[in-house]
Amino acid sequence: MTSPASRRDLLEAAAAEVRAHDPAALKALGLLPRHDLFFPAIYYPPLTMYEGADGRDPLAGFEWTGRDRTCLYVHIPQCPSRCTYCHWMISLSNSPADIDLYLDHLEKEMDLWRSRLGGAAPRPSSVLIGGGTPTLLSAAQLERLLTALAARCDLSLCRQFSVEAEPATLLGAAGLEKLRVMKDLGVDRISMGVQALDDAVLKHMARPHDAAEAVAAIRQIRRAGIASVSIDLIYGFPGSTPEKWAETMETALSLDIDACQLYRLRIVPHGDKVGAVRESHRKSPDRFPPLEEVYLMKALGKVAAERRGFAENLRRLFTRSPRHISYYLRDYGCRLYDNLGIGVSSWSSLGDRLLMNTGTNLKAYYAMIAAGRLPVDRVHVRTVDDERRRTLVLPLKGYGVSKTRYRERTGRGVGELFGPRIALLEKHGLLEQNEARLALTPRGGFFADEVIMQFYAPRYLPFPREDYAAAELNPHRPAGTAATLRG
Ligand SMILES: C[S@@+](CC[C@H](N)C(=O)[O-])C[C@H]1O[C@@H](n2cnc3c(N)ncnc32)[C@H](O)[C@@H]1O
Ligand code: SF4
Repeated sequence: MTSPASRRDLLEAAAAEVRAHDPAALKALGLLPRHDLFFPAIYYPPLTMYEGADGRDPLAGFEWTGRDRTCLYVHIPQCPSRCTYCHWMISLSNSPADIDLYLDHLEKEMDLWRSRLGGAAPRPSSVLIGGGTPTLLSAAQLERLLTALAARCDLSLCRQFSVEAEPATLLGAAGLEKLRVMKDLGVDRISMGVQALDDAVLKHMARPHDAAEAVAAIRQIRRAGIASVSIDLIYGFPGSTPEKWAETMETALSLDIDACQLYRLRIVPHGDKVGAVRESHRKSPDRFPPLEEVYLMKALGKVAAERRGFAENLRRLFTRSPRHISYYLRDYGCRLYDNLGIGVSSWSSLGDRLLMNTGTNLKAYYAMIAAGRLPVDRVHVRTVDDERRRTLVLPLKGYGVSKTRYRERTGRGVGELFGPRIALLEKHGLLEQNEARLALTPRGGFFADEVIMQFYAPRYLPFPREDYAAAELNPHRPAGTAATLRG
């Protein structure tokens, strides 16, 4: 455990970082919303903001050319209980028979995609099985799922196979058996939702585990010999303070982990479902830490991680070495690979189209598959404008934009399309560029989600114009040049 003096030093270093980034000035300029709420930039156009499919065939006229540049996501919605901050579509019907029924439909869905995508097996560069709680499956069910995937995909190009986990499901002999099955069948990275290491906060979150169980689960993952372990933590939850967060970070970084992903609490839902946290914030906003403390926690996470030898690789993901990043995140976000999403509420980006699987409930999902249809209920065909913005904003949030690659993909120069907005962001110390690349500065990286939204088409912004100051960085002001507007 660190001394009070070094804890104080950590807090002071974090406070200095926040002061240097000066969020108050950026709020006055219109970059940050006035109400202090946060919306993450996950994809472009933002997921779920697409039209309904209205019975149309989502793949009409489509020919897949991205088979060798794709990632694969498989969604398992079952959870033991609902966490209070969770905005995901989940299912609490999780008896062995319920899970078997879901796996039956997943297998049928994979077959449907394969036949609709020309019959050849998808050849993903990375795989992520997420949830929900994939590790709620028994060892036998995990074996069934992984075997079914291997039989339906060509995994010869797959460089990372990740599974999301929840600590309580990995404990004891049963937990170890699940981990061994996963390791034997090619899983080489576990991304575990720990969320907090303070039992009072975990209780408030209604997590199914305590801090000691999270630590024990990390030991189990190591015992099973899984090559890479990453944990997720959330800051900004009621009851958390900068001091407690400092302690959490110090404990987390002393564990046998390769990476940690730090999330600011999202109160506003980013998809179709609204978690309980939205209503509790509306009723009692004072229970939540004020924005100054949230920024302090954000800076603290970064300073603490860097002092322990972790570097920020991909936004908010701190790793001991670059090989411990999420390849899935890198492949769809930085390399702009296609993504094939299987399972209820998952999303796909294939060629020019974005497809959302139904996220209403399992009944709707099962009915579509039983009818021999892809379970897609929303489709968006990307326009030229969408593609120009996507090619800028997703890589910019990660490692930065190669100007040559940008031109190859869009046929235009990034400066030609967005020059004035780039210049404005450079003036405020948020972006930097040289002949080859465009990237976020440390200040821009601290507000990465809001900076990349500067390049969104106004209809895709999460908050209306009046939620931001009427100043030069109000994101509703047109970001493009005449060339963007002409198309
Ligand atoms: C795709 S979710 C995985 C969900 C997984 N079942 C879990 O909770 O462990 C990845 C991570 O997002 C984070 N997350 C989920 N909901 C959040 C919210 N409302 N605010 C901030 N982070 C959130 C959690 O850290 C979670 O582990
Ligand atoms: S946060 Fe994760 S574990 Fe909790 S209910 Fe949501 S999906 Fe399930």
